[in-house]
Amino acid sequence: MKTLKKISVIAVLILSLCFAATASYAASDLTTAQQYNPLSRASMSASSGKAETRTLRVYLPSAGKITFYADKFSVSDKSTYSILSSKGADLLTSRLSTLKGKTIKFLGGGTYYFRFSLTAGDNIANLLYTYDSDNAFDETHSIALRKGETVPVKKYVKSFKSNYMYIVSNVRIATVKNGQISAIKPGNNTIEAFSSTGEHVKINVFVSDSVSSGIEIQGANMIWKGESFNYTYSYTDGKTYTDHEIVWSVSGNGTVTKKGKLTANAKGDAVLTVTDKTAGMSSSMTVHFISDASEVDFVPTINGIQIANKTYPLPSDYDPGLDKDTLAAYNKMAADAAKEGLSFNIISSYRSYNKQVQTYNHWKSLYGKAEADRCSARPGFSEHQLGLAIDVNSCYTSFAYTKEGKWLAKNCWKYGFILRYPSVAAEKITGYIYEPWHIRYVGTELAKKLYQSGQTLEEYLGVDSYYRQ
Ligand code: DAL
Ligand code: ZN
Repeated sequence: MKTLKKISVIAVLILSLCFAATASYAASDLTTAQQYNPLSRASMSASSGKAETRTLRVYLPSAGKITFYADKFSVSDKSTYSILSSKGADLLTSRLSTLKGKTIKFLGGGTYYFRFSLTAGDNIANLLYTYDSDNAFDETHSIALRKGETVPVKKYVKSFKSNYMYIVSNVRIATVKNGQISAIKPGNNTIEAFSSTGEHVKINVFVSDSVSSGIEIQGANMIWKGESFNYTYSYTDGKTYTDHEIVWSVSGNGTVTKKGKLTANAKGDAVLTVTDKTAGMSSSMTVHFISDASEVDFVPTINGIQIANKTYPLPSDYDPGLDKDTLAAYNKMAADAAKEGLSFNIISSYRSYNKQVQTYNHWKSLYGKAEADRCSARPGFSEHQLGLAIDVNSCYTSFAYTKEGKWLAKNCWKYGFILRYPSVAAEKITGYIYEPWHIRYVGTELAKKLYQSGQTLEEYLGVDSYYRQ
């Protein structure tokens, strides 16, 4: 279906042969797009005292309408103009005094000749026209440029030739010069390009400032086979662009919805990509689709946060030791607490896979599998193997009622820790009973956020914690 283009531009009547184009156009009454003139400007007069004939050549890339403007327009009622073309227009000859502001419909693309019969004293300065193409776009591109950057038009317009016609929505943001799109200042702009062979291309140009901006996918780096995860994205400049066109795609054994919900159909790796078509940016991440914990040869992360719970297992050979930042934060916390007369000591911190085998088996032999699963992680599923968890003072619920227990719950966020299994009620979310002694290092920013919201890590990340096997 053909659509009429909304944007219009002042393009110039190109003069043929017989007279020079000179004057500049003071087009304060026109829109920015209309002021844009990639070609040249034309004026004509017949002040020599006798009638004269002028011929103008106009190239139209496709059928459409043109409307004429002129800066100065004083012509005699006797002066005429006619359109000389086999392709046809809805007006072929008329009095020149009616030209300004007139809209003429052209039935096809091509070169049109206008013949002007000027009377002595006629004066037209900057005869220009707006053009609205009847042609739908053959292609639409969206590109991102930094301020000051240029890119050749021919990269996006296949049949590039120098005699393109351009319609530019805001020349202060980006323009076309010498076949180059050049970015001037931050903002969104649209360039409509017409070729001499009738190609009609739309280029959305997103100009950013000198700070580099990018897009990042957020979500889990693994999904259990047959399950789904809702992915999101953010911009590295911290801004949100609600009007941008976003497209999700995935390779491999996954399917993804328009909103970023990825489903793992079979085990194996897949590459998930989010593209901001408007800004011309994209971001990809590999997502592992697993059907057995033994297939995990990576550390599960969600939004860049490492996680281990009943849903997210660790490789059995993952052996990082206690994280240095975690230990430093703990030492600072214990030192500060000591100033208040409180005493903290570590009873368990880093536990390797093999150590967790012993720990889990200990609880299993005491209480049986079902009860052990409530208080101890199976080997490969413990946060202690991440090197980011510490148990302090005592592994009894009564610790919560001690001075240290109360202080820890109230203050550990200041040092970057969260109570990872924070209440009896949270067992159905975290998969573990209340552990007032178990702290997990997440950094001060996230710890503060979780302390203030009261959310568990699972709630914050939008994940669950239960064994698939
Ligand atoms: N006690 C916690 C859940 C663990 O074993 O990792
Ligand atoms: Zn623990």
